[in-house]
Amino acid sequence: MASVTLTRFFIVFILFPIITHSIPFVVFHGVADSCTKKGVTQVTDFLSEWSNAQGYCIEIGNGAWDSWFMPFEDQVEIACEKVKNMSELSQGYNIVGFSQGNMVGRGVLEFCDGAPPVKNFISVAGPHAGEASIPFCGKGVMCVLVDALIKLAIYSDYLQEHLAPANYIKIPTDLDAYREGCKFLPKLNNEFEKNATYKERFSSLQNLVLIMFDKESVLVPKETSWFGYFPDGAWDPILPAQETRLYKEDWIGLRTLDEAGRVKFVNVTGGHLDMADDDMKKYIVPYLVDEEIPENPTVTKSSGKDSSSSDDSTMGYIRKVGGHQDLLLNVVHRL
Ligand SMILES: *[C@@H]1O[C@H](CO)[C@@H](O)[C@H](O)[C@H]1NC(C)=O
Ligand SMILES: *[C@@H]1O[C@H](CO)[C@@H](O)[C@H](O)[C@H]1NC(C)=O
Ligand SMILES: *[C@@H]1O[C@H](CO)[C@@H](O)[C@H](O)[C@H]1NC(C)=O
Repeated sequence: MASVTLTRFFIVFILFPIITHSIPFVVFHGVADSCTKKGVTQVTDFLSEWSNAQGYCIEIGNGAWDSWFMPFEDQVEIACEKVKNMSELSQGYNIVGFSQGNMVGRGVLEFCDGAPPVKNFISVAGPHAGEASIPFCGKGVMCVLVDALIKLAIYSDYLQEHLAPANYIKIPTDLDAYREGCKFLPKLNNEFEKNATYKERFSSLQNLVLIMFDKESVLVPKETSWFGYFPDGAWDPILPAQETRLYKEDWIGLRTLDEAGRVKFVNVTGGHLDMADDDMKKYIVPYLVDEEIPENPTVTKSSGKDSSSSDDSTMGYIRKVGGHQDLLLNVVHRL
């Protein structure tokens, strides 16, 4: 009897703080996606369920269309207002960014005055150091042609104001034009003009989890997910984060965070945003469960297909988080 009571006491004692203190998380989706699309709602729900934390997908404007065509300064402003307006977040929250959604998430983290604190930032395939190709085209003749045209004008005021991805494209051999014309990434990375507040906010994260996909096909180079990039003025070799100026000169505090052991560089098997459930449980969920991060995160609660076998992660269920439908015709039409 006494031992039962004691066990109950311990269960309550152990679970109580986790349940009551679990802070919410918000999701920022990628380009061409929206909070109402199945991949995004499912992933938000599963992460909520697995972590026992409330999750919210924050929509910018009308979703897919605005993710393509609304400049990031505006996207961030909207996200900032929404985050400040949500009383659920007032005690602090975590951010999960998918692909381009990481640009919005980091914008909120760094630029949003008077916002509640961000504790953990989990980045799934974010173009943090830039993107060196036009991300939305395939191999067709039209595509190649349009890509070439866009590349010529990517840093023009017109494209900067009308094509969101232009705001984080960084062509390593066209850095003068980038410096002159790119309206968002240089500011986000404290690249030319430095603002100590952005660095202070970025460095205040408890954990920064940077997830890279080994078969990445959208981000060029894939190492941008880890803040790695091409060297200034050349296409090779791809520099690991630690060898970039952003890191070495600590523009935004990445080095500070890393030296404090708060950056997790994670690589997983899969193409862009094709993340196995097991990998989400292993690399995302522990950071959504507030309190201590367990040394060896074990997630017992699960739904859907779950491989508890000893097979490697490629055997797990792969969830397609983002959709990259072919919006080329729309793009051509708008330009
Ligand atoms: C803030 O929340 C209120 C009510 O919850 C809503 O009426 C208002 O439109 C919201 N503002 C923004 C900017 O989302
Ligand atoms: C830096 O950013 C903060 C916060 O947005 C702003 O208040 C401040 O004016 C900026 N400082 C400079 C020098 O631009
Ligand atoms: C991740 O990186 C490590 C070391 O860099 C490597 O051994 C491993 O194979 C990589 N895993 C994947 C899934 O790419």
